Amino acid sequence: MNILVTGGLGYIGSHTCVKLIEAGYTPIIIDNLYNSKKAVLERIAQITGKCPQLYIGDVRDKKLLTTIFSNNEISAVIHFAGLKAVGESVTIPLAYYDTNVYGSLCLAEVMQKHKVYNLIFSSSATVYGEKNPTPYIETFQTGNITSPYGWSKFMTEQCYIDLQHSEPNQWSISLLRYFNPVGAHPSGLIGEDPQGTPNNLMPYISQVAIGKRPFVSVYGDDYATPDGTGVRDYIHVDDLAEGHVATLQMINRAGIHCYNLGSGSGNSVLEVIAAYENACGHPIPYKIMPRRAGDIDAFWADASKAKKELGWQTRQTLADMARDSWNWQIKNPNGYIDGKE
Ligand code: NAD
Ligand code: WQD
Repeated sequence: MNILVTGGLGYIGSHTCVKLIEAGYTPIIIDNLYNSKKAVLERIAQITGKCPQLYIGDVRDKKLLTTIFSNNEISAVIHFAGLKAVGESVTIPLAYYDTNVYGSLCLAEVMQKHKVYNLIFSSSATVYGEKNPTPYIETFQTGNITSPYGWSKFMTEQCYIDLQHSEPNQWSISLLRYFNPVGAHPSGLIGEDPQGTPNNLMPYISQVAIGKRPFVSVYGDDYATPDGTGVRDYIHVDDLAEGHVATLQMINRAGIHCYNLGSGSGNSVLEVIAAYENACGHPIPYKIMPRRAGDIDAFWADASKAKKELGWQTRQTLADMARDSWNWQIKNPNGYIDGKE
């Protein structure tokens, strides 16, 4: 069964392609290499023994999408392609709405023309905004979001909900709200490869652990949490990837299917640093700094719906996430390097 994977060379997309192949599916990738390298394809092939077909191009290119749907019998689409840096989205909001919202519309339009009605969308816990109590439940009202990135996910969800309602017996659309994906494939062949200064906690810690940066800035130690640092629901990227394979059960089950993909519990910044120290075997210097604008004290998922309806739950611990992140980091100190595969 062919599954079109947009953004399939990216961090979560590449891990999902591996899981898809292992589950017997055939991923076909479209990626414009904006935040990834072609070398990822070789790595997927090294892990699985199968090299997915790759179209290098943009999800906003309806002509290219039409070619892909005309030349391949696609059963479902998993839509990862997008921009994801929360801070950057405040500076260049139009780019975020263009890629994330308009790109998602282009994709759905071409799917509709080709009568492909199964879609899985990468949404984010950020849609729950600032006002909801934790743990987050899928039925909570979304909104009150602080970044254009978050609004782009909120808007895309709404566009897809309206589309599903317009042809209720056709579309099966799954909105997957990811919490904080970290870690890497245990082989150390694929992982997260941030360009420039990492925005997220674990990639930053890993660069301190390997000596590229002097210390971790801990953004605030006066939150209403047990140790005062921010608490998040970290999820191993392989567990997250398996969540997509589990969601493929929803193929041809018309409706809007919304799931939190998280572990159901949280860890503090200091706990993540401690787990990483265990994984790398040496202390990780850190300094307490002021709070980061837009952060909230704590949130994690109520992950019971995905468990009940998809039979999916996370299996890997924070220690596993740190171990696999470190393994990826030491095997690829400079990330992916094209042409040297
Ligand atoms: P990523 O940047 O590693 O992967 C995105 C991929 O999409 C990259 O390979 C990039 O080159 C590609 N891409 C970007 N714009 C494109 C375009 N216009 N056309 C075609 N390809 C394009 O990001 P990721 O961490 O793998 O995230 C995947 C998805 O999950 C994104 O939609 C992101 O918003 C969402 N998400 C990520 C996180 C996270 O913390 N990583 C959390 C929640 C949601
Ligand atoms: C985690 C914790 C920080 C970096 C973001 C997006 C969210 C989703 C996942 C896409 C917080 C603290 C961080 C550092 C620190 N992405 N921190 N020092 O902010 O929970 O979520 O990524 O959808 O939408 O908002 O993740 O990893 O940036 O931060 O102390 O150098 O670590 O304050 O408490 P966040 P994060």
